Amino acid sequence: ASFMEVKLTYYGHATFMLSNGETTIVFDPFFNGNTWEKAKPEDIKCQYIVISHGHGDHYGDADLIGKANNALVISTAEVAHKAEEAGLKAYAMHLGGKHDFEFGSIRLTPAFHGAGIPGGHAAGVIVTFYGKTLYFAGDTAFFSDMQYLNRFGKLDYALLPIGDNFTMGPEDALLAASLIKADVTIPIHYKTWPVIDQDPDAFVAKLEAEHHQKGLVVEPGSTIVL
Ligand code: NI
Ligand code: MN
Repeated sequence: ASFMEVKLTYYGHATFMLSNGETTIVFDPFFNGNTWEKAKPEDIKCQYIVISHGHGDHYGDADLIGKANNALVISTAEVAHKAEEAGLKAYAMHLGGKHDFEFGSIRLTPAFHGAGIPGGHAAGVIVTFYGKTLYFAGDTAFFSDMQYLNRFGKLDYALLPIGDNFTMGPEDALLAASLIKADVTIPIHYKTWPVIDQDPDAFVAKLEAEHHQKGLVVEPGSTIVL
């Protein structure tokens, strides 16, 4: 088999895609109403949809994309149930649990945030996708147990919200990054609305200056090779 690169496409806010050219996962598929306007839900081709929690800017267009692609939704039990009620295929997990999939694995981690759905809980995600491991924090406050997220092995990338107001702001995200120690930290969840207008370049500069860790601003709409 020929080696296939793993690529990450960032659509702004908390929406991104991992693909090796054959298998594609879209995370928190918020396109309609996403002020970055980098894609339409009709553009998205995927086999899997991973959702961190039920807020509209994260569950997003899961119903539309899931139906169009016959994709499998992977999320907490409550969000998976919501997806099933909408007629989608879903796989239910919960915080602390890991499950293996054809592409690698999904582990749901705690996130300190509203669930956006009755009785639920917000989640973060550690995903291993064809050999690359990423921590996607979802929406969360800082919590000190972030220091243990790398206990299962090296994290190649960490995607952390920096927007403030609804989630960690830049100062807490810097502290989080310094504990998580991913090879590369990517700021997300900023500038979508004026209330989360933060500077991702300043965040990355501080991460390098104060913690000697690599940060990367992935411009919304662009794709990087992992
Ligand atoms: Ni939220
Ligand atoms: Mn959010």
